[in-house]
Amino acid sequence: MRAIPITLLWRCPNLRFRGEHPVKPGLIIGHEPVGVVEELGPGVTGYNVGDRVLVGAITPCGQCRACLSGQLSQCGHGVGYEALGGWRFGNTINGAQAEYLLIPHAQANLAKIPDELTDEQVVLLADIASTGFSGAESGGVKIGDSVVVYAQGPIGLCATVGARLMGASLVIGIDGDENRLRIARELGTDVVLDYREVDTVAEVKRLTGGGADVAIEALGTQETFENCLRALRPGGVLSSLGVYSGKLQMPYDAFAAGIGDYRIVTTLCPGGKERMRRLMEMVRHKRVDLTPLLTHTFTLGQIAEAYELFGERRDGVMKVAIKP
Ligand SMILES: NC(=O)c1ccc[n+]([C@@H]2O[C@H](COP(=O)([O-])OP(=O)(O)OC[C@H]3O[C@@H](n4cnc5c(N)ncnc54)[C@H](O)[C@@H]3O)[C@@H](O)[C@H]2O)c1
Ligand SMILES: [Zn+2]
Repeated sequence: MRAIPITLLWRCPNLRFRGEHPVKPGLIIGHEPVGVVEELGPGVTGYNVGDRVLVGAITPCGQCRACLSGQLSQCGHGVGYEALGGWRFGNTINGAQAEYLLIPHAQANLAKIPDELTDEQVVLLADIASTGFSGAESGGVKIGDSVVVYAQGPIGLCATVGARLMGASLVIGIDGDENRLRIARELGTDVVLDYREVDTVAEVKRLTGGGADVAIEALGTQETFENCLRALRPGGVLSSLGVYSGKLQMPYDAFAAGIGDYRIVTTLCPGGKERMRRLMEMVRHKRVDLTPLLTHTFTLGQIAEAYELFGERRDGVMKVAIKP
């Protein structure tokens, strides 16, 4: 398909510089595409050239054991399971920061965009909304739960929105960036805490009467992982979204020596066309509006400049849209 009308800058070029997740040299990156079908491969049915589609960051095959067992992100490409196998764009095949994009397993991955929704309204669903919401879903947030979200970057903010959607009665968002804490408030976080100013674990325990029911990790560091564990009540759920590098340690006291009945779950962004359809329905029926997170737009020709701004987090940048 023609990848652009719109795609998003991705945080992982920064990750590469920080050595957190390797990107194969020469591969086109980018995995949050909205586009128009330019040509259809053999066997792809139910679509027409010219259809406007959203494709998830994760592109499962829909046919392997992993996919058919509901583990689409760990897709084995037609056979068994492969860890992170559903993440292909900009990881194992060329991604979306280009004029054209070849969609793998198109039948399983092209989600038609309802006419009343703009590209800007849906592009954030491909990854950050799907991932962020999944933090709350995998954490099993229930009506009345208290939830703490460590880090309020785009992923953490969407986790916060997800926790509210799932029925949390109290959502506490933690970050050290005033702009992000302000956006967290605007998106409905009940209490925001600046980790530079307060002992966040003590404060979460105080606000929740002993610890949060669910703690969502949305940064990928030892510190935030550990704080999540410490901020949980016994038997609580740590739902981890961050991409970690190096070693992640489990201090025995934070882990109640292994017998605190904690559950730790991790989630790779859910993808595939049904997930995208469901998320678009949430936007269409006005359950969520994430457009405030789309702060900047650049052309493909200006992408280096866009990455500079994004990497340095200048000018209140959250997510950057790239158009032709
Ligand atoms: N699980 C998945 O499928 C998936 C998908 C996309 C991204 N990710 C990962 O999610 C994580 C977050 O991504 P993002 O785009 O929101 O990142 P980001 O870099 O834009 O935001 C990170 C935020 O963390 C805050 N922060 C820094 N130190 C902190 C601390 N000690 N306590 C609390 N907050 C702190 C920063 O101020 C910033 O706002 C990354 O690890 C990314 O790789 C995971
Ligand atoms: Zn599969």
